[in-house]
Amino acid sequence: MNTDVLEAIRVSALDAFEGVKTLSDFRAREVEFLGRKSALNQFLKSLSSLPPEERREWGSRANEIKREVTAAYEAAKARLEGMAFDAEAEWIDVTDPGEALPVGHLHILTRVERDICDIFRSLGFDVADGPEVETEFYNFDALNVPANHPARDMQDTFWLRQKAVSSQQLAVSKKSSRLLLRTHTSPVQVRYMETHTPPFRIIVPGRIFRSEATDASHEHTFYQFESLFVDREVSVGHFKYVAELFFSRFFGKHINIRLRPSYFPFVEPGFEFDIACTVCDGRGCSSCHGTGWLEIGGAGMVNQKVFEAAGYPRDRWKGFAWGFGTNRLAMMKYKIPDVRLFQSGDLRFLNQF
Ligand code: FA5
Repeated sequence: MNTDVLEAIRVSALDAFEGVKTLSDFRAREVEFLGRKSALNQFLKSLSSLPPEERREWGSRANEIKREVTAAYEAAKARLEGMAFDAEAEWIDVTDPGEALPVGHLHILTRVERDICDIFRSLGFDVADGPEVETEFYNFDALNVPANHPARDMQDTFWLRQKAVSSQQLAVSKKSSRLLLRTHTSPVQVRYMETHTPPFRIIVPGRIFRSEATDASHEHTFYQFESLFVDREVSVGHFKYVAELFFSRFFGKHINIRLRPSYFPFVEPGFEFDIACTVCDGRGCSSCHGTGWLEIGGAGMVNQKVFEAAGYPRDRWKGFAWGFGTNRLAMMKYKIPDVRLFQSGDLRFLNQF
């Protein structure tokens, strides 16, 4: 008998079980080193032909090696079973459809505001903006709404509490007057004109605030669009043309405009304008209370006093300005019955758009 043969079997069996990585490999090693026809078992079988003395010695040695190889076999088995368990737990089927997570979307007012901006941009208008916290000067004074004049009551105002301003500070800048939440987008007219020279055409989308009781068509916080067009020769005809073009594009069909005389201190002449009812096309229905017209906004030729407040010489420029409620326009287009729904946070309403 040869000791080297037994040692070689031992070394290669231990190496094999230690290095095994897959279950199929493990099964092959099991047959090779511990199976009935394995070199070790063949060796044990052959011991019966030896004399008793030698049989005892070689038998004890071979059994010791078999115990060692069996222990290596058990260790490899436990290791592979552990690996198989982990792989199962961490199994990911990359072809599975993903879990659908709820995705947000733009608010209907934001979409309408963007649509309006796109139409005006296509007509050559720039988009300007101004602060929501405004001074009394820009919101009223510069727009020819004098202090204590009843016109100031046309839009009820949220005034902001602030530190007292000394008369000396007021003298330095009449513009640093009391603060308020702007009641319309018109103050941006003056702010824009202070830093730009005509000709120009702009629109001003923005949020505005009014201290008034709410109902289905009145909010305290809503959105407006201001439009200002200034050049040498501008007339009411230009306004009517641009307004009809805009509303026709917005509603996707021809829309007639009607002007009614009205008073806004910052325009002269001033008027309110209606569009032909988008529900009945002017025939008269419940949406327009049978009149065939829907009231949309205010407009007029820019009062020269406003040009002067912005620093322009009197009578050098002419312009038209108009403003309308974005919420009300969205209500007409999407048949929304109550203006308060926009800010209700009600997902049943918001998810419809
Ligand atoms: C103004 O705010 C003027 N600054 C518009 C203007 C601009 C006139 C330029 C002339 C030249 P008025 O207060 O009417 O005007 O408001 C304009 C539009 O805002 C209304 O026609 C209406 O569409 C909308 N609006 C007014 N009050 C509310 C309210 N409480 N809730 C929702 N929309 C309103």
